Amino acid sequence: MKPIQVGLLGLGTVGSGTIAVLRRNREEISRRAGRDIVVKAASARDISRERAVSLEGIELVADPADIVSRPDIDIVVELIGGETAARELVLRAIDNGKHVVTANKALLAKHGTEIFARAHAKGVMVAFEGSVAGGIPIIKAIREGLSANRIEWIAGIINGTCNFILSEMRDKGLPFDMVLAEAQRLGYAEADPAFDVEGIDAAHKLTILAAIAFGIPMQFDKVYTEGITKLTAVDLKYAEGLGYRIKLLGITRRAKKGIELRVHPTLIPSRRLIANVEGVMNAVLVKGDAVGPTLYYGRGAGAEATASAVVADLVDVTRMATADPEQRVPHLAFQPDRLSDDPILPMEEVETGCYLRLRALDRPGVLADVTRICADLSISIDAIFQKEAGEGEDQVDVVILTHVTPEKQVNAAIRRIEALPTIPAPVVRIRLEELL
Ligand code: HSE
Repeated sequence: MKPIQVGLLGLGTVGSGTIAVLRRNREEISRRAGRDIVVKAASARDISRERAVSLEGIELVADPADIVSRPDIDIVVELIGGETAARELVLRAIDNGKHVVTANKALLAKHGTEIFARAHAKGVMVAFEGSVAGGIPIIKAIREGLSANRIEWIAGIINGTCNFILSEMRDKGLPFDMVLAEAQRLGYAEADPAFDVEGIDAAHKLTILAAIAFGIPMQFDKVYTEGITKLTAVDLKYAEGLGYRIKLLGITRRAKKGIELRVHPTLIPSRRLIANVEGVMNAVLVKGDAVGPTLYYGRGAGAEATASAVVADLVDVTRMATADPEQRVPHLAFQPDRLSDDPILPMEEVETGCYLRLRALDRPGVLADVTRICADLSISIDAIFQKEAGEGEDQVDVVILTHVTPEKQVNAAIRRIEALPTIPAPVVRIRLEELL
């Protein structure tokens, strides 16, 4: 059978990794796909630049628009990132009847609904395994492997940069800024590291996971997003002492009144497997009603790890290219005319446990005031600890763990606690999940 011809947009880390993997495993890939997969042309901003991989046999062009309109290209692989140009190119490729493989999480989280509708109308596939958790085949697992299940919730460590920073802060007691500089030096961070540390990158990925888990449209603008910039080494230490680790989690859950969609630092019991995922590694925990909890672990970024997902998509698309479009796996796991309009819950309506750290004057009655506020707002306290005052200090840290409580009750409690004259500093709140 004639080889399938690929046009690659972008020759950065993942583009070069894709060429390397396709070349090294050519024989195995061809045996799997049923025909050869060859990169026919590639575009790069600077085509004269030296690359980590040989580009022999690949036609190089400076303008990616040339690739999406070439009649000899069957599949366009979009690896340029960003939203505006990538959206234009992907839509143009689809309009020209080409299948698309992309690892662009921001593009899909924000424009996925438009892109999938256009692809459906044109009868082409858009594959996106590399967009979430790099080399972990989490899209395939949720969309196909777990298709018997009603998915209950997903909790994932889906930003390697943040996980690396939290691991280093906890292990070495280093402050946030110093560890971020190290993560940037190692090349894990997004071009704008605010996307990592403010939780935006994780929110993009969570949007995609929720869409395929629950068969809902992409709703990036409804994700509650809180990053790790305000976390301090002292909270990581206190959490550890209480048997918890703090991770930046992307969480989506089917609750009674709607779907939770949230990214925030979270205390999780240290004995959970996912709590022990360290450094740049990613892990996604998916709870299905039939199978129970399942855990997927691996590299969430990097040249060949992400290329592993991109090439797997190329194999899938190659196998299905000649199939009747109606027989293909739907983009969002559910048939496009059967998507659900379940609402996304505002954060105020989400229920979680909480870790609250208060700075309190070391005086009689302070704790009584605080616990009274909690009682008035029906917040059940699971544990309360007062740390010893430092020498010469008249203030102490008080840590409270609450049972699962609606967010709006905790917000009200924090406002009232902060108004007490005996509480001189803002209350630190970190949400807590048992992940059972
Ligand atoms: N900046 C991302 C991360 C890269 O740190 O996980 C992979 O999407």
